[in-house]
Amino acid sequence: MIVCSCNAFGDDEINAFLSGIPDKRTSVKETYKACSNGKKPHCGACTQHTLKDMVDEHNKGIKAPDDPPAP
Ligand code: FES
Repeated sequence: MIVCSCNAFGDDEINAFLSGIPDKRTSVKETYKACSNGKKPHCGACTQHTLKDMVDEHNKGIKAPDDPPAP
């Protein structure tokens, strides 16, 4: 499925990137850069919807460095 029509990449590229960093949080910007071979977004639609949703899902449950320790 195509996620970014401006720079032509899809969920396969996004899933490949995210599965390569299973224990590391990431950002939409970092993921976009990796999946588009360093290109910048044009319209930005994917960064506010599908790509953002996939990154948010990936980051769920991964502890951020500044998260407080569990009680
Ligand atoms: S759809 Fe991704 S930048 Fe336009």
